[in-house]
Amino acid sequence: MIAFGSDHVGLELKNKIMVYLGSKGIAYRDFGCYNDIRTDYPEYGYAVAQSVSRGECELGILFCGTGVGISLAANKVIGIRAVVCSEPYTARLSRQHNNTNILAIGSRVVGLDLAKMIVDSWLDAKFEGGRHQVRIDMIEKIEKNCPLS
Ligand code: RB5
Repeated sequence: MIAFGSDHVGLELKNKIMVYLGSKGIAYRDFGCYNDIRTDYPEYGYAVAQSVSRGECELGILFCGTGVGISLAANKVIGIRAVVCSEPYTARLSRQHNNTNILAIGSRVVGLDLAKMIVDSWLDAKFEGGRHQVRIDMIEKIEKNCPLS
C-alpha cells in the first residue's frame, strides 16, 4: 500500500499519479488534501510519514509546489527518509543507496510524464543493503541523538 499526500498545489499531479499507479494495479491510500482550497503542506507530509513510520503503508509519495516543504515535514518523523526528486536517476539511487521510504515531487517543477518516470524508477529500485545499511544505521543514531562512533 502506498500512502499519497499533497497540498493544494500538488493536488492535481497527485491525482494523476494515483490514477496512473491504480491502472497498474498498485494499491494506494490518499491522505489528502482533497480539494484545491489553500492549505498547509505539513499536515499531509506528517499524515503520510506517520502511516509509513507505523508500517501501515509501505511507502509514501508526496506533492507540493517544489516538493521541499512537504518532504521537510515528513523527514521530522522518526524512521522517515524522504527525498525530493526532479529526475529518475536520483529517485532510483535514493532507494538503492539510501532506502528512502517517501518520494516527494514538486508539481511546479515536474510535468506529468517526467513524474511518471520518477515514480516508476523509485518503485522499481531495491535497497542494496551492505555498506549502505551502515550509513542508514548512522542516520538512525542521529535521530536518537546518539554518538556516531
Ligand atoms: C505553497 O504555496 C508552496 O509553498 C508549497 O506548495 C510548497 O512548494 C512548499 O514547499
